[in-house]
Amino acid sequence: MPGVPEGRLTPGAEGGPRAAWGGCLVREGARNEGWSPYRGEEAEWDGRESSVVLTEETAFDPKEVVELYDSVGWRGYTRDVDSLCRGLANSHLVITARDESGGLLGLARTVSDDESICYVQDLLVNPKFHRRGIGRALLERLKERYAHCRFFLLSTDHESTPEGKRNHAFYRQLGFLSYEEKQMAGFGLPRIRPPRGRADA
Ligand SMILES: CC(C)(COP(=O)(O)OP(=O)(O)OC[C@H]1O[C@@H](n2cnc3c(N)ncnc32)[C@H](O)[C@@H]1OP(=O)(O)O)[C@@H](O)C(=O)NCCC(=O)NCCS
Repeated sequence: MPGVPEGRLTPGAEGGPRAAWGGCLVREGARNEGWSPYRGEEAEWDGRESSVVLTEETAFDPKEVVELYDSVGWRGYTRDVDSLCRGLANSHLVITARDESGGLLGLARTVSDDESICYVQDLLVNPKFHRRGIGRALLERLKERYAHCRFFLLSTDHESTPEGKRNHAFYRQLGFLSYEEKQMAGFGLPRIRPPRGRADA
């Protein structure tokens, strides 16, 4: 591909490089049914373009999963690690984004009947790696995977919150409309939640 250095990812190439978004190059990993331990070093972004590997995974290392969920402050999940790992294992699909040394950068998971509906339950990227195109890569992968489903839905924070502002900008950039704009409405049963600040997911 002209202008793309050797080893770069070419969009849509079968079984190999997929696409380049933001500062990251994305490729598909082999399906991983046993967790590959993160090698321990704290991954710091060094400013160079790096590869990000997207992989479907079905088994999870509690330590690295907790680190990722803690990195975005989702303590509602990390208070009970066994439940978090069971939830991941029971999801319809979990896709991880890892760096070349196996470090977990982000993750997306779905609840789906694989026919009519896909609900994106979690999409998170370690804040050290925000704005590198990783969230986009994960979500684009899900959009492709569930293109046959009539409903492709998710919930996020209200636009009046700081998280909501960021997330709405992100989802709009990825082509989403709010429920209202789709002439829909979302409802949820009220649940008793600990005060914000002590636990906020
Ligand atoms: C939302 C989230 C997954 C985005 O991941 P990300 O890897 O940083 O996003 P990307 O780099 O792929 O961003 C794609 C585009 O979305 C928009 N976007 C992303 N973050 C944004 C922000 N903070 N402010 C404004 N626009 C933003 C931009 O248009 C961006 O493209 P650009 O960087 O070329 O301008 C990430 O912020 C996150 O993990 N947040 C914490 C967990 C969370 O709230 N998840 C959503 C739950 S519903």
